[in-house]
Amino acid sequence: MSETMTVAGAAFALPKLPYEENALEPAISARTLSFHYGKHHAGYLKTLNKLVEGTDYRDEELEEVVRRSAKDAKAKALFHNAAQAWNHGFYWQSMAPRGGGEPEGKLKTALERDFGSTKEFRAAFSKAAVGQFGSGWAWLVADEGGKLNILATADADTPIAHAQKPLLTIDVWEHAYYLDYQNRRPDYVTAWLDKLVNWRFAEKNLG
Ligand code: FE2
Repeated sequence: MSETMTVAGAAFALPKLPYEENALEPAISARTLSFHYGKHHAGYLKTLNKLVEGTDYRDEELEEVVRRSAKDAKAKALFHNAAQAWNHGFYWQSMAPRGGGEPEGKLKTALERDFGSTKEFRAAFSKAAVGQFGSGWAWLVADEGGKLNILATADADTPIAHAQKPLLTIDVWEHAYYLDYQNRRPDYVTAWLDKLVNWRFAEKNLG
């Protein structure tokens, strides 16, 4: 899932962006992407690398760190930073420079099966993204039986800590859109679905 690579004993590394910083314009500006990736995402990893020093989380894969620290009451800050590091890696891949349009193939079939139509899915996903109070994420997920669902999570929380398989996510923290849209989160969500959503990535995750 995440392209983050870990080498035993080495720090968790910032995954490479799958496109140039200006590749999502005009829906998301290079300025937003530069801050979001270069400051926020990089910042979570920097803090995470400090927090795992001297712990047995240090040699695990990032996904495993997220899952295990979610259940560790003494590792709250570590969980927040690990989850944000993982979520952002997944978010970059949930977008593509020529994304948007309509889902196809088995993803389309699954969306129609579980939401009635791709239009109804879009409406429900938008509602979750726009309606998430404060900072967080909206997700398309599959449960253990393969049924698709929409989930909104607060702050750093992530479906991988709750035995849900994420297919797609949109970051609705203000840092994801404020420079381009100010407080107009609905406009960001609309532009994201129209121009950026990476259906192929979601279909690949469906397995
Ligand atoms: Fe973010």
